[in-house]
Amino acid sequence: MATDARGAAAPLPRFPDGFLWGVSTSAHQIEGAADTRAPSVWDVFTAEPGRIKDGSTAAVACDHVHRYEEDVALLADLGVGAYRFSISWPRVNSPGGLDFYDRLVDALLAAGVRPVPTLFHWDLPADLSWLERDTATRFADHVAAVAARLGDRVTKWITLNEPAEHTLLGHALGTHAPGSRLLFDALPAAHHQLLGHGLAVQALRSTGADDIGIANSHGPTWPASQEPADLEAAAFYDLLLNRLFAEPVLLGAYPEGLGDLMPSPDIEADLKLIGAPLDWYGVNYYAPTLVGAPQGTEIDFGGVRMPAELPFSVREIEGVPTTDFGWPVIPAGLTELLTTFASRYGDRLPPVVITENGCSYPGLDDQDRITYLEGHVRALHDAITAGVDVRGYFVWSLLDNFEWAEGFARRFGLVHVDFTTQRRTPKASYAWYRDLLTRSPME
Ligand code: FCB
Repeated sequence: MATDARGAAAPLPRFPDGFLWGVSTSAHQIEGAADTRAPSVWDVFTAEPGRIKDGSTAAVACDHVHRYEEDVALLADLGVGAYRFSISWPRVNSPGGLDFYDRLVDALLAAGVRPVPTLFHWDLPADLSWLERDTATRFADHVAAVAARLGDRVTKWITLNEPAEHTLLGHALGTHAPGSRLLFDALPAAHHQLLGHGLAVQALRSTGADDIGIANSHGPTWPASQEPADLEAAAFYDLLLNRLFAEPVLLGAYPEGLGDLMPSPDIEADLKLIGAPLDWYGVNYYAPTLVGAPQGTEIDFGGVRMPAELPFSVREIEGVPTTDFGWPVIPAGLTELLTTFASRYGDRLPPVVITENGCSYPGLDDQDRITYLEGHVRALHDAITAGVDVRGYFVWSLLDNFEWAEGFARRFGLVHVDFTTQRRTPKASYAWYRDLLTRSPME
């Protein structure tokens, strides 16, 4: 908690009127009820021994499909203005699948919480692959079907979640589903997701939607030193994590040289679709990354194996607190990221919404999470004061959930979930966030 010179807690700054406060989840991580939907690439991946650290699967997860009313009550009690969840494409493809989202949306609206669905959060139907161009067209059809059913009540949409991680971890390094270890041959998966985004925006626009964004993950890339080899490696990492996914969307162009690597019968036509203006730009922020020249050996970084042949190496940031996932806690990185984006992209950057920010810590009296969140809320305010147009902030996550390759070991929730009994218990951070939202006006 920030304190003033006398050690008293400094008041939280005032945010602009209409600022949207929310929390986020995703379908595969909370829904469970895997027996009532078609399989996704994550079900296939999880079934292979050794893929998930604690050997778990998301077949039940938080059993949210059966307990969504209780979870909506938790949202209402928390006092958030909006709830970001994702719509499972395999569930939509299954009988009655859309009925579930229909009920969820109605329950949210009845509770006074705005539904903000993400249309793809990594759980691709098991028979599809983002390495195939056709998947982008199939995605647009899926989006059209969802919008036809929910578009009378849902007005704010997110196309994709973190195509960068889905490409890097899922297709290049193979630590996430679908588990392909293609290194740079994974780039088509990036292009086809981005094309899917462009086609999804087109499909949503044709229904009159005017509140559309994407949730891209970004973070400052810090060079390990000022040596040319480290600077070059850090610039390359920045290109992969930040520019490769921001620039086609914001500028309608791939960074220098990369467009030539993308498979397309007509790259200019693709980029025109991908770069169609958005109403806002979603940023998922967790931490900066320290990057240096390759070290010639494969290293394990936060559970992700970094092959020696990559032209960079991720280094540990020393001297800062870390979460129990080992991620460095650096709130000022959020201010740096947002001010860098505002100066890099100028008026091509639409208003920003922080679509994810949060941390993994154990326990119910989670003071570390409160410190993390408060630091980031202040850092966000610093970015607004510096002139960045930020319109919303979503904590990851409402509930402890299935944290991908980590299984259930990493707890990101404001609400604790006992995965044996499914009992939900709000943590200290839930009360802290509720206070932040109800303190009106914030000083
Ligand atoms: C992000 C993902 C989200 C969650 C958090 C911790 O990369 O979008 O699903 O796993 O990390």
